Amino acid sequence: MNEAASFSSPRLSRKIQALQGSAETTFTRMVRLAGQTPNLISLGRGDPDVATPPHIVAAAVQALQTHHVNYTPPPGLPALREAIAEKLARENGLHYAPLSEVLVTCGAQEAISVIMQSLLDPGDEVLLPDPFYTAYEMAVGLAHGKVVPVPTYAEQNFEVLPAEIEARITPRSRLLVLVSPSNPTGGVISLPVQEAIARIALRHNLLVLSDELYEKVIFEGALAPSIARLPGMRERTLVVNGFSKTYCMTGFRVGYLAGPAPLVAALQEPHHILTICAPVASQQAALAALRGDQGCVDEIIGIFARRRQALLTSLRQAGIPFPHPAGAFFAFADVRAAGISAAAFAEAVLQQAGVLVFPGTQYGRCGEGFLRISYLAEIPEIERAVERIGGLYRQWVQQRQ
Ligand SMILES: Cc1ncc(COP(=O)(O)O)c(C=O)c1O
Repeated sequence: MNEAASFSSPRLSRKIQALQGSAETTFTRMVRLAGQTPNLISLGRGDPDVATPPHIVAAAVQALQTHHVNYTPPPGLPALREAIAEKLARENGLHYAPLSEVLVTCGAQEAISVIMQSLLDPGDEVLLPDPFYTAYEMAVGLAHGKVVPVPTYAEQNFEVLPAEIEARITPRSRLLVLVSPSNPTGGVISLPVQEAIARIALRHNLLVLSDELYEKVIFEGALAPSIARLPGMRERTLVVNGFSKTYCMTGFRVGYLAGPAPLVAALQEPHHILTICAPVASQQAALAALRGDQGCVDEIIGIFARRRQALLTSLRQAGIPFPHPAGAFFAFADVRAAGISAAAFAEAVLQQAGVLVFPGTQYGRCGEGFLRISYLAEIPEIERAVERIGGLYRQWVQQRQ
């Protein structure tokens, strides 16, 4: 073999090869097909198309113009960590020491990876309610851990059942992941269920990663309080949150985690090695987001609420059922009656209707028979797209009768 040939086909590590065999390929395939689809309507995104509030953008611009261009302390600007600790106390009833219990990361995504890298030994088990946000599966795999999916069901709006968690606990169980509101289902975990989960975590000495990224993207009076507030839970919970969704700041790449000091101290070095620090201008923007008027959040959530309403109304008109999505950007449409796989349905929707939605199976086995449909598009597009999906859905349902 000549040098050029061996260079063009490097051997990948076994863990990366294993990851390539997982749900990510569905995503890659759908995105590739979408790229070839003329006049595509995308109801696939999880990345708000709404503008970042101007005072937040201005803070980033000002940071750059005044030569704030260097690394910050790896755990984040002290002022930002203070603002985060104040936010957690004010809004979530959680009390953390800003300089030892808050770590600023490059998005919640980095926080997830840092936690998995820091807590898992090979073979350690992570209980993950299924359907799940795919990055969790990847992050656990990269840390040589093992995902233990905890099935959830449309009939319970995909809220995790405490008994299903407890039934899967083994001596290797290390961490339980809770994402509420959930990507991809929009489900939330109610207080009584949280209390039951907390009892299980205490009984089995489990750590909990509580992903609260969609805490503000919640509707019709639903509540998603942090499990860390419950007695005995602060010591064993890592709260993960960020700015991407609430303030439409996905590209800024700022998030954070908060937890008990010894755990947060242990996470600092892996964070340092991975990224050194979150971008300084983005940290200044995040500070402006927290310190500024929160009226912009009401406006953003108002836009989301109108689009969500349009999506849910369109689905009802199209005759497509869906479990109630109390939060996040999605409806998890129930197309089981069509009698074909979610992947085949999503591909047909793309090729025959020119609409991108993701099959529920991209997010775990419990997503079979469901489509994740995002409302992050203009309302007329949402209406047009769902009408087309509805046409295909009815065709398949009728063919089966
Ligand atoms: C549940 C969940 N957690 C974490 C992330 C990562 O968000 P970010 O890194 O932009 O903060 C996402 C992004 O979509 C998500 O849906």
